[in-house]
Amino acid sequence: MSYIIAIANEKGGVGKTTTVLSLGAALVERELRVLLVDLDPQANLTLSLGIKPYHLQRSLADILMGGQRISSIILRTGIKDLDLAPANEEMRLTEQFLRIRENFDLLLKEALEEVSFYDLIMLDCPPAVGSLTQSALAAAQLLILPTQCEFFSTHALRSSLNIIRTIRERNNPALRYRLLLTMVEPENQIHRSLNQQIRKAFGEAVFKTIIELDNHLREYPLHAQPITSFAPASLGAHQYHELAEEVMQFVRETSGRFT
Ligand SMILES: Nc1ncnc2c1ncn2[C@@H]1O[C@H](COP(=O)(O)OP(=O)(O)O)[C@@H](O)[C@H]1O
Ligand SMILES: [Mg+2]
Repeated sequence: MSYIIAIANEKGGVGKTTTVLSLGAALVERELRVLLVDLDPQANLTLSLGIKPYHLQRSLADILMGGQRISSIILRTGIKDLDLAPANEEMRLTEQFLRIRENFDLLLKEALEEVSFYDLIMLDCPPAVGSLTQSALAAAQLLILPTQCEFFSTHALRSSLNIIRTIRERNNPALRYRLLLTMVEPENQIHRSLNQQIRKAFGEAVFKTIIELDNHLREYPLHAQPITSFAPASLGAHQYHELAEEVMQFVRETSGRFT
């Protein structure tokens, strides 16, 4: 069975897609087979791997709405052991109509059972808690919530925590979560103070690793590959490698895998 991680936050622009790609790429360097799943109709993850969503005949929409097998849409990324289940425009309709189907939030989980040979599956969620994000949270063992050290981001966390409670009660009692501080500017006073406040409030639930602001991470969509490939010596690549270690340790401790 794969270990499934959802990367979600109802706020956009907090580093979800960047984290899915960079962390996924750091993890394959640790001899794991990783599948990235693009659940966002905006298809940023798909685009950032150099794949044009409007050229794709099929996407996750065909899996969730059309009942097809997920293995039929999986693409290679050019990076060894890193594969992608892409998104395209049709997923807007999926987001809208999926909820009408009975037990819709379990369809993704069931579809992923077919590809359980991946050690890890990472789900990139849209910036909303609609039917696609709910499906991801129902399937995941771990939710990573990237968050910026800014007032509105910390505010959005509160509503995310309510959603975790709801999902645990509804269909996934074992769902765990961890916060990841992104785009941190260590010299910025507001960032420092919010960093401290978040750690005080959430304690162990915050990853020790932080992801600092790094312009390499801003430009990665232009390279059509992860930062660990095009700028392996950058701060961003280094910090995502550090995060990969921390995630592997978390998975070892909580599930006994990757030992
Ligand atoms: N640590 C970082 N430093 C600088 N820019 C970043 C960093 N993380 C993400 N970005 C940039 O911020 C923007 C939003 O990130 P993205 O991962 O797409 O957020 P989300 O998926 O949450 O909407 C993108 O342009 C991305 O390149
Ligand atoms: Mg995104």
